Amino acid sequence: MSDRQTGGAGTGAPAKLLQPLTLRDVTLRNRMVISPMCQHSAVDGFVQDWHIVHYGKFALGGAALVLTESTAVTSDSRVGIADLGIWSDDHIPGLRRLADFAHQHGARFGIQLAHAGRKAFSEPLWEGGRALTPEALDATGLTWRRVGPSPIAASSEWSTPEELTRAEIHDIRDAFVQAARRADAAGADVVELHYGHGYLLASFLSPRSNQRSDEYGGSLENRMRFAVETAEAVRAVWPEGKPLFARLSCLDGTEGSWDMDDTVALALALKAVGVDVIDCSSGGLTEETRRSNVPRGIGFQVPFAEEVRRRADICTQAVGIILTPEQAEEIVASGKADLVALGREALRTPYWPAEATRALGQEDFSAWPMQHRDWLSRRQTVLNRLLSEEN
Ligand SMILES: Cc1cc2nc3c(=O)[nH]c(=O)nc-3n(C[C@H](O)[C@H](O)[C@H](O)COP(=O)(O)O)c2cc1C
Repeated sequence: MSDRQTGGAGTGAPAKLLQPLTLRDVTLRNRMVISPMCQHSAVDGFVQDWHIVHYGKFALGGAALVLTESTAVTSDSRVGIADLGIWSDDHIPGLRRLADFAHQHGARFGIQLAHAGRKAFSEPLWEGGRALTPEALDATGLTWRRVGPSPIAASSEWSTPEELTRAEIHDIRDAFVQAARRADAAGADVVELHYGHGYLLASFLSPRSNQRSDEYGGSLENRMRFAVETAEAVRAVWPEGKPLFARLSCLDGTEGSWDMDDTVALALALKAVGVDVIDCSSGGLTEETRRSNVPRGIGFQVPFAEEVRRRADICTQAVGIILTPEQAEEIVASGKADLVALGREALRTPYWPAEATRALGQEDFSAWPMQHRDWLSRRQTVLNRLLSEEN
């Protein structure tokens, strides 16, 4: 039996990576997800042609679930000026086009809901990725704010955030709820709450950034309160049959900050209010931690997904330098995660999931779009003949 027929992990069993996964009433056709990736290409939060092609190609490429980039729940909370937005009902039709296209090609569509908090408004990476200065932001004429649990800047690069009042915390929680309602109206199958990378909800979790003395600061339970209350409030409007994901920075890698025990406690609390999948990332709380926190290596965040899955008994999504179908197969087949998310590898090869499907045992081209399948099969037949004639 060829490698391709053994599932790639050498077990002889059908590849687990290619098996469907049902979460509530939503069945994902395989275990491969497109990770959220900011495109800095929206105008006032609105979907552009870029997004139709960018997200659409991943649906064509065989992914089970295409997650959007950070999609801002309020206009003043964007990661970058040109992030997608979901702060208005007017954003729904554009997002619906993305969802409809994904569905037409067998993929599910999810929206990552985000509030960037004290790290709002940075440049696109291709312009340097720096925090935009207050002067530069004022010059745009946009309403902008950097807010956080406490007036502590993410680093010297960032302006000091305003400390949120309790009423403002509740308003932001309600903005997530309204955003989830709009995501449902747009036909999204999944909502992912962005609780990682040092953005607003993550900044409430760590005692380094959260030094409040009210019920949203202090003890672990208090620091988790905003995240858990928001998930609970979103769950109340997000349809019962649709799964809810949360992306966490499982470690921020700083002494006395946020660690795996805290992550497991949060995963359990989120599970109790109806979160179905923990998407296990890391870092981003401060600029120092972005650079040096968790040593990068192939699959470096997979152990976080494994530990959360085992200790909190919840589905996990592994992400971070997952490069080959065999590596991805090993992650899901050995029970380290239920899903693998692809970021840069999918930018490089949008048809990565379809290619993985062939690499792990499916001889035909059924993972490709209908419009392409027969042509690829015929080409393969010709190639096989030519190659055998050569030998
Ligand atoms: C261009 C780009 C934009 C990103 N934007 C987001 C984002 O909007 N939300 C998020 O949670 N992660 C974001 N990430 C992180 C990715 O989702 C992913 O976790 C990370 O790139 C590691 O996976 P990889 O090694 O497969 O790229 C971004 C990554 C890239 C490369």
